Amino acid sequence: MYLHWTFPPAITGVISYNGVTRAIFTTHPVEKPYLVYQIGSADPDLAVQAAKTVVQDVSGFDLNCGCPKSFSTHAGMGAALLTNPDLLCSILTALRKEMPPHITVTAKIRLLPSQEDTLKLVERIVNTGITALTVHCRTRNMRDKDKALIERLREIVEFVQGMGSDIAVVENGDCTGWEDAKRVRAATGAHSVMIARGAESNPSCFSSEPLKDVEITLSPAYLRLVCIFFFLHRSWQGLIRCCRPSISITTGALQSSASFSSKALE
Ligand SMILES: Cc1cc2nc3c(=O)[nH]c(=O)nc-3n(C[C@H](O)[C@H](O)[C@H](O)COP(=O)(O)O)c2cc1C
Repeated sequence: MYLHWTFPPAITGVISYNGVTRAIFTTHPVEKPYLVYQIGSADPDLAVQAAKTVVQDVSGFDLNCGCPKSFSTHAGMGAALLTNPDLLCSILTALRKEMPPHITVTAKIRLLPSQEDTLKLVERIVNTGITALTVHCRTRNMRDKDKALIERLREIVEFVQGMGSDIAVVENGDCTGWEDAKRVRAATGAHSVMIARGAESNPSCFSSEPLKDVEITLSPAYLRLVCIFFFLHRSWQGLIRCCRPSISITTGALQSSASFSSKALE
């Protein structure tokens, strides 16, 4: 992988990490203060190597311990890490050790079937020195259509606090926006809420006054941006990815989740 400024660099300032045939990661300096780079890994050394490659352009690293798709789990990554806590924690420990202190290291997990096992896992993860833990309140076998088990999170939040840890616990699953985040935080005690599909449907869901008619107000502007993206990157794959959410309305936060900080909600 090598670093390369895409055409026309003087105008866009876009930073592109290119593979052999396509860009693997593109970003812009304005994103850096908000950008957490999520890593799927089953190897501490490779995770550190990957992190070192992009560390100058991001603010933190998150370890994906929740993806249930076979492209992750067959290689021991994503949700497969949930049942391999030694490996999971060794990756977090390695990242924390090798990254400078101002770079955050966080993890996103799913619930284990038993609450007792979940708490044991959480204890080990918190002890690696991470900054925040996101809990997708579904188990590995649950699908998105299954209601998230947010009622299980309060005990986890209290458990983390009981450890004397001041790390943020972030709820994920079924939150639809600003107003709904109040309900979720009240029910769980979570510091923050991460939203995925709600943001895909309406990227303004993070606002206290979300747009009610994104099809008219946002989609046309978003599609214009997609055209510019295609012009700059000449990537059909990227174009298709960008257009997918615009069909099911639109999103600026593609395939990523955005989270409310507690501060933003207060
Ligand atoms: C299109 C799409 C892509 C996703 N990609 C990731 C990902 O790369 N990493 C991750 O941790 N979760 C990913 N997720 C899962 C979400 O972050 C989230 O855990 C899940 O959708 C539940 O949250 P929700 O109820 O707010 O949608 C993805 C979800 C969707 C819909």
